[in-house]
Amino acid sequence: MTLTLPNLPYSHDALAPHMSKETLEYHHDKHHQAYVTNGNNAIKGTEFEGKSLEDIVRSSYGKSASVGVFNNAGQHYNHLHFWNWMKPNGGGDKLPGRLEKKIIEDFGSLEKFKADFAAAGAGQFGSGWAWLQVKNGKLEVSKTPNAENPLIHNATPILGCDVWEHSYYIDYRNRRPDYLKAFLDHLVNWDYVDQLYAKVA
Ligand code: FE2
Repeated sequence: MTLTLPNLPYSHDALAPHMSKETLEYHHDKHHQAYVTNGNNAIKGTEFEGKSLEDIVRSSYGKSASVGVFNNAGQHYNHLHFWNWMKPNGGGDKLPGRLEKKIIEDFGSLEKFKADFAAAGAGQFGSGWAWLQVKNGKLEVSKTPNAENPLIHNATPILGCDVWEHSYYIDYRNRRPDYLKAFLDHLVNWDYVDQLYAKVA
């Protein structure tokens, strides 16, 4: 497949003040575009050309010959979802019932999930992602470095937060925990998380 940059599902200034127009202009228009451009260049003429994005991510992982394919296709996958994992006036405690029930079942409470997710994001050394994933029918929090994601660990991501500095440094400088708190309290699009959960529930 050819990777293409999607439009944001909202305007560049729609997530302010929690994520600024400037951040989205750099993060979406420049960083994500670079993953798309470099990914297409890396995939061209290789065995990955006819595969789905998920297959490219899974099959390029861990091989020195395809590290460029994995890094860019992985980040393309992660960012495609990341834009949809946020919305204006998102976050907070109003979750679709089925998802809320499952979170309470597997974490004990919504507050415990949020604390675990924020700790995973804050504790990821260097660039990476914090995740809510479904593995063997159970919800789990995880973290990964760089372009890695739950797909390569036999799990399905249903929520992810980008903790690369390009995602928060303009708005929060070095205060990554404040960015994670704003993400959970004001940005998460729980309906999109629920849609992804419904596919594997
Ligand atoms: Fe990013």
